[in-house]
Amino acid sequence: MAPAGNRRVQVAIIGAGPAGMFLAHLLHEARVDCVVLELRSREHVVSRVRAGVLERTTVDLMKRLGLSERVTREGLVHGGTTLAVNNDPFHVDFDELAVGAAITVYGQSEVMKDLNRAADERGIEVIYEAADVQPQGLDSDTPWVTWKSPSGLHRVDCDFVVGCDGFHGVSRGCIPREVLKIFERTYPFGWLGLLADVPPCNHELVYANHERGFALASMRSPTRSRYYLQCSLQDRVEDWSDDRFWEEFALRIGDCFAQRITRGPSFEKSIAPLRSFVCAPMCWGRLFLAGDAAHIVPPTGAKGLNLAAADVIVLADALRRFYAGGSRSGIDGYSDRALARVWKAERFSWWLTNLTHRFPHMDGFDRQMQIAELEYLRSSPAARSAFAENYVGLPLEI
Ligand code: FAD
Ligand code: PHB
Repeated sequence: MAPAGNRRVQVAIIGAGPAGMFLAHLLHEARVDCVVLELRSREHVVSRVRAGVLERTTVDLMKRLGLSERVTREGLVHGGTTLAVNNDPFHVDFDELAVGAAITVYGQSEVMKDLNRAADERGIEVIYEAADVQPQGLDSDTPWVTWKSPSGLHRVDCDFVVGCDGFHGVSRGCIPREVLKIFERTYPFGWLGLLADVPPCNHELVYANHERGFALASMRSPTRSRYYLQCSLQDRVEDWSDDRFWEEFALRIGDCFAQRITRGPSFEKSIAPLRSFVCAPMCWGRLFLAGDAAHIVPPTGAKGLNLAAADVIVLADALRRFYAGGSRSGIDGYSDRALARVWKAERFSWWLTNLTHRFPHMDGFDRQMQIAELEYLRSSPAARSAFAENYVGLPLEI
């Protein structure tokens, strides 16, 4: 089947998640023309319940791109968070420790709505339900991407292809095996998440290390709670009735917060496996990778979406400079620059996961090490500073 009506753009982006859509807006700002090719429907992408915590860098990016009207109005700015061990909570105050920094609680689906609405207004082209997307000619100066739709086979020619197609996308696999290094750690548990229209049990997030396993109290708004429980990888969502969830959550989150839980029917429940993953380099020929296509963090550190945003800030700047004066230094340095920050977020997410979760083969010594480290955080402003600095997000230059 011959492709119908070839066309040309400067940059073809694969995937319309946060990485792909932030990049499309950044390129639009830099007057670099692009098209976004997305496998799923727009409704599917927007309704996925995922991240909830935005670093300042991500909120600043939304401001810079003129996308911040709702996040400024509806986002919940938190100046601290609570850690708990064995029912005994302590507070980490970001203002006191990491001057002026805060996090903003605002759901990924809201970020996607803001990105999509502005894309419509700005004429940024996103092609949804693009099947069998294939990047090709990536080791030449004239790559192209093909895809299928009910009307046939399509092709777009371009200067660069950016794979923003998440962990299960097609782009990473285009980098030859002998070039690509993979670093990976899987964890022997998952997270069961629940959404319910009930007021949160605390005004800020609570990360609880309990003998029975980890629990996290988060939220989406003053009337919508997002709660998580560490669960077995063998568990299925059907194994967890709402009643079983609420009982277990109340036990693990600790007495102080359990008293303030409002129970109610869930309207979303899902299980996500936990993984640390980095591929290097994050580019090959005319292909760049950004976001989950190149790296995954366990959600404990709330870094995934924020890393995706940071990657595309660096990449868009490099592409802007390339098109402004032909300088290749930014695009040639993209992978190293992005990976330097990625590894720091990987370390923090891995560390916080190890500190807060119950591992199947933990012995008494391992447990005491967790407790000692959490007690050290409780008592030492220096330790809390290191936590807060990473949690609110390292500066982009690092
Ligand atoms: P994705 O969001 O995965 O987007 C990739 C897109 O590419 C998708 O739309 C997909 O449909 C599309 N695609 C895939 N394959 C193809 C193909 N072959 N062709 C075309 N399109 C394709 N991060 C945070 O920062 N803070 C948090 O609090 C947080 N909490 C989380 C909680 C949970 C339970 C989970 C699961 C994740 C959480 N994350 C969090 C992580 C965050 O959701 C991801 O890191 C983020 O979505 C990555 O964005 P992305 O655009 O790189 O990838
Ligand atoms: C969320 O609200 O979904 C959330 C918050 C903090 C995390 C992970 C997820 O660390």
